[in-house]
Amino acid sequence: MLRTDAQTPAIRLADYTPPAYLVDRAELTFRLDPEATRVLARLEMRPNPAVSGPSRDLRLDGRGLKLISAAINASPLAPDVLVQDDEGLSVSAEHIPDGPFVWTAETEIAPLSNSALEGLYMSGGMYCTQCEAQGFRKITFYPDRPDVMATYRVRIEGDVPVLLSNGNLTGQGPGWAEWEDPHRKPSYLFALVAGDLRAVEDRFVTCSGRDVLLQIWVRAGDEPRCAYAMDALKRSMAWDEEVYGREYDLDRFMIVAVDDFNMGAMENKGLNIFNSKYVLASPETATDSDYANIEAIIAHEYFHNWTGNRITCRDWFQLCLKEGLTVFRDQQFSGDQRSRAVKRIEDVIRLRAAQFREDAGPLAHPVRPEEYIEINNFYTATVYEKGAELIGMLRRLVGAETYAEALDLYFRRHDGEACTIEDWIKVFEDASGRDLSHFKLWYSQAGTPRLGVKETFADGRYTLTFSQHTPATPGQPHKAEVVIPVAYGLISPGGEEFETGLMEITRSEQSFSWDVAEKPVPSLLREFSAPVILERETGPEQLSFLLAKDTDPFNKWEAGRSLALALIGQMSREAGVEPADEYFSALAEVATDPMLDPAFKALALALPSVDEVVAALASEGHTPDPLSIHEARRALERKIGASIREPLEAIYAEHTVSGPYTPDASSAGRRAFRSRALALLTADNPDAGLAETQFSSADNMTERMSALSLLVAHGREDDALRQFYADWSSDRLVVDKWFAVQAVQTPPEKAVLVVDELTRHPDFDLKNPNRFRSLIGSFAMGNTAGFHVPGGAGYRLVVDWLIRLDDVNPQTTARLTSAFSAWRSFAEDRRIAMREQLERLLAKRDLSKDTNEMVSRLLGITGG
Ligand code: TRP
Ligand code: ZN
Repeated sequence: MLRTDAQTPAIRLADYTPPAYLVDRAELTFRLDPEATRVLARLEMRPNPAVSGPSRDLRLDGRGLKLISAAINASPLAPDVLVQDDEGLSVSAEHIPDGPFVWTAETEIAPLSNSALEGLYMSGGMYCTQCEAQGFRKITFYPDRPDVMATYRVRIEGDVPVLLSNGNLTGQGPGWAEWEDPHRKPSYLFALVAGDLRAVEDRFVTCSGRDVLLQIWVRAGDEPRCAYAMDALKRSMAWDEEVYGREYDLDRFMIVAVDDFNMGAMENKGLNIFNSKYVLASPETATDSDYANIEAIIAHEYFHNWTGNRITCRDWFQLCLKEGLTVFRDQQFSGDQRSRAVKRIEDVIRLRAAQFREDAGPLAHPVRPEEYIEINNFYTATVYEKGAELIGMLRRLVGAETYAEALDLYFRRHDGEACTIEDWIKVFEDASGRDLSHFKLWYSQAGTPRLGVKETFADGRYTLTFSQHTPATPGQPHKAEVVIPVAYGLISPGGEEFETGLMEITRSEQSFSWDVAEKPVPSLLREFSAPVILERETGPEQLSFLLAKDTDPFNKWEAGRSLALALIGQMSREAGVEPADEYFSALAEVATDPMLDPAFKALALALPSVDEVVAALASEGHTPDPLSIHEARRALERKIGASIREPLEAIYAEHTVSGPYTPDASSAGRRAFRSRALALLTADNPDAGLAETQFSSADNMTERMSALSLLVAHGREDDALRQFYADWSSDRLVVDKWFAVQAVQTPPEKAVLVVDELTRHPDFDLKNPNRFRSLIGSFAMGNTAGFHVPGGAGYRLVVDWLIRLDDVNPQTTARLTSAFSAWRSFAEDRRIAMREQLERLLAKRDLSKDTNEMVSRLLGITGG
């Protein structure tokens, strides 16, 4: 059993029991005050008919609440009847009526001193809430679990111009507003916002003709930066109607931008709350990737209205039910709005960087975990991104049409319910007629499967033999075979693709054969059809062939990526390794192919990150050295820049984008390709001054930032950094970029020094998660060679700051500990230094439960 100390036992999926009491309706009144907000709750409750047996105790969750009074059916409860502890209160069965009853309570909370940003807190003078996963219990006593769903009426009183909550506005006057949310919802979807805010408004007419008011609420002055988010919202609403048949269901849809936020955004019913970096954008302040993130996250939160809100999760173990599906939907959306191939490559890069990394270390857990201590620690790449991959595999296995039928059935059958993965699998079984019990193992078995493949060719028969194996993960020493859909094509030596299809691998060893005249080159796992590591015997010749000839853009890119990974790995381990000329000519061919999308070419010319090479070497059984990998990577960039200089110069000259900046995919693709060329040219010859020129002449943040990154990476940054700060010191989001570019791009030998000095900059702020992540997080996760600098100074610096942050914001601290997740992959000196720092963090007095769980798992202290 997972436990860190006697006080915090793990919660287990196997122990699930339905709630003893349900809440049908919640009526809340808030009397806002920064230091003493009063919350009056009136809950219409009744015994859960699904639970049999005699009358039972009433248990309500509540944390850090000052209880003023409580009553049942208007009879005040005497203090000795209310048994209160750190996590809530209980009333024993004899004080509870047999049938339905009304619970009322008045509590007091202090939003101003809530630096954990969970529950009701204040950000830049405005009140806001974050209730997922268990923040509602910091607002009032409540059965704070997603299988308790109620309609809400909220009255807000306060000397504040704008007062918002979920649902439809039913009344307002000076100093008050009332909201009614007619849709039953779990408490984690409750939201309240109050402050001096301005709305940018628009309208959307739904497919059935309903006119919906759209509002994006921001601080005065930020209104001109909402246009792209609003556009993305309208496109998301239209897409969900067209592709999934899902219509919006309230009179208004609101988004609020908040500066202090632990995560990206939150899908509260009718009132999404966003980290302001995923709402606000202008050409001068936001990069192309900021725009793409805004589009994806606006869509993600909007899509949750059906996949998450209308159909929610029975318990937090089922988190992937809403998150995996909603990530899958937002990925489909972005693919449809932009280039599907480019989007797929970007998603796989992310999956490997975050999820494969998780699976390969002490934090590995199943897409549906079986136990947790702090649920906030399970909002992970595995639940989100691998969860989305499982949906993609299901869709591939049953086909697009059956997938659509299964989703229709899901919405029809489960609207208004709190569901499980079993419910989800069942709609696919019913729609397809297939038995999916084997497939379901993907939800409970952690770890990334290795798929080996061998080929033979004899007497006109070509055979591929696959073998699969999943390495052990914490708590799961033995793994079973999983269902692996392998999309493939066979290409003749002349470059003709003559066969495509899908192989379903279900056993530990399995062969597939074809009658062919000549031995083909196989293109396997097209579109990355399963989240596995393909271990093939393909040498550089086959990879170069696929890079040139493969018609599947994903595998074309993958071939180039594998070549680069192998090269950097080798160069980092042996002196004098030289790439073959064919490698450079293949790259030049891709770079100059007029048929290829510039966005794709930008990805094809990008080298894997230091982190990716670290992971690849570790998975082959080597002990990687981040510093030599960093050097090897730089050397390879330099060689590419020198070898294909002429085409790169032409690309740089020709791929300018004319006219004023627009964030559309095609312009963004041209800029990405052009800045890739700039990076390679600068690697070869930093003295040419191209980056300096681009930095000073750019009229948009994308080009300014790509130039600035290169200047910092090449140690030519002083003037540019000073200028950049002078121009933007009053803009929070841009100052975040100023911190991040230094944390990530500063060469490893001086990175610790620079980051340490930046922690003393007046703009560094422990209380603002974006700012903290842009310096400490970016350094620990984005400057791999700097973080792992010999001697352990990088580890010490990060832990120094995590120790300070833990008292302020446990959730963000706990997430950032994952910077240490690969600690066992390194050679002994680094391993010891990292372990020492984790132990130091663990020994901190009053370490939060969040961080305690993470560090314990990292260290492998899971016995009990
Ligand atoms: N449900 C949110 C999403 O994925 C995630 C989220 C936002 C969250 N804020 C959080 C999760 C705070 C845990 C804690 O869209
Ligand atoms: Zn989500």
